[in-house]
Amino acid sequence: MATEKIVLAYSGGLDTSVLIKYLQEKYDVDVITVTVDVGQQEDIKAAEEKTKKLGVYKHFSIDAKDEFAENYIFPAIKANALYEGKYPISTSLSRPLIAKKMVQIAQKEDATGLAHGCTGRGNDQVRFDITLGSLAQDKKILAPVREWGMTREEEIAYAKAKGIHVSEAAKKYSIDASVWGRAIECGLLEDANNEPPEDAYEWTVAPEKAPDKPEIVTLKFEAGVPVAINGKTMKPLELIMEMNKIAGKHGVGRIDHIEDRLVGIKSREVYECPAATAILEAHKDLEKMVMTRHEVLFKQKIDAEWVFLAYAGLWVDPLKDDLDAFINKSQENVTGEVKLKLYKGGLQVIGRSSPMSLYDKNLANYNIKTSFNQSYSKGFIELWGLQTRMYNALKQADKKGKAKKP
Ligand code: ARG
Repeated sequence: MATEKIVLAYSGGLDTSVLIKYLQEKYDVDVITVTVDVGQQEDIKAAEEKTKKLGVYKHFSIDAKDEFAENYIFPAIKANALYEGKYPISTSLSRPLIAKKMVQIAQKEDATGLAHGCTGRGNDQVRFDITLGSLAQDKKILAPVREWGMTREEEIAYAKAKGIHVSEAAKKYSIDASVWGRAIECGLLEDANNEPPEDAYEWTVAPEKAPDKPEIVTLKFEAGVPVAINGKTMKPLELIMEMNKIAGKHGVGRIDHIEDRLVGIKSREVYECPAATAILEAHKDLEKMVMTRHEVLFKQKIDAEWVFLAYAGLWVDPLKDDLDAFINKSQENVTGEVKLKLYKGGLQVIGRSSPMSLYDKNLANYNIKTSFNQSYSKGFIELWGLQTRMYNALKQADKKGKAKKP
């Protein structure tokens, strides 16, 4: 038995498998592995088996799927969370939850340190270090991958030498998933100009191979969160999983964009987030039906700040809670139904309804008979454009050399 116990976030993948051996040999510590199931659809049992072969001191598999859906994904839906307008932060959201579970185990097992397998180039190190450091101030944080300087090829060689099984997929791509989406990195994808090969995707079919008939899905929201699909009420996790299936079948949710990492690197990121793409689109649409213009425009700023904090590893910063308080209040009326049409990779909102709707057909219609009093408009425009007209009057006078110089 070694003198120290270290809790390691273990995914079952290449980096963290190599890390078990590395911690045992180079740091001479007992390794306690924790695998947190956030709906990554990877074999949690297989990861557990692997840890036995790698001689860990203890292993914990934690099913946190429901907690993840309710306390991490649902707030993200309310905040319309899309980083740089594209990425539903499916990886970012899972980090503070995994960190929280690691800390709970470390306290229970009286471990002295917490370890993760993040590189020094990515965002995940920021998320783990800040959350772990905030929740467990008395424990040290180890990030050996940041220091060991092995290339992926060297890691694969190290794994082979230590008898660690390396999957075919791991040789090709680096994958990270949660029930909110799947991130695919490395290999051919590093050339930002290469179309992602079909084998990078697992949750979505190629739009070309999607059904020839469109599918219409009705999503029901209550106070800002989805509660039913096509009239069938579901629990948060179940609903997200079902939406992943439906949208994935139609090739909806593939994302390919250039993303700004916190450490300044621009990276080409490929994701498949079928449920997130569909649910966020529907939610945004419904908000616009029930919120006042002032709310809609102000909330866009709050949403942008919220998603930045969540992406940037500041989940446990008090500002995130402050924004949550505003966002939760703003969702009280976000109740209603949104109709989505899915077809060959495309997603469109084709209808929406709400008991709290501010859309009034009677006001917006093109008929002469409307309750909107058009005679008010003249005076409104007079005041609305007052300064604009004044400015243009000055500008035109100036051109003719008539304006007085100050
Ligand atoms: N760029 C994304 C993020 O920072 C995805 C990262 C995927 N992580 C990984 N270890 N493969 O959230």
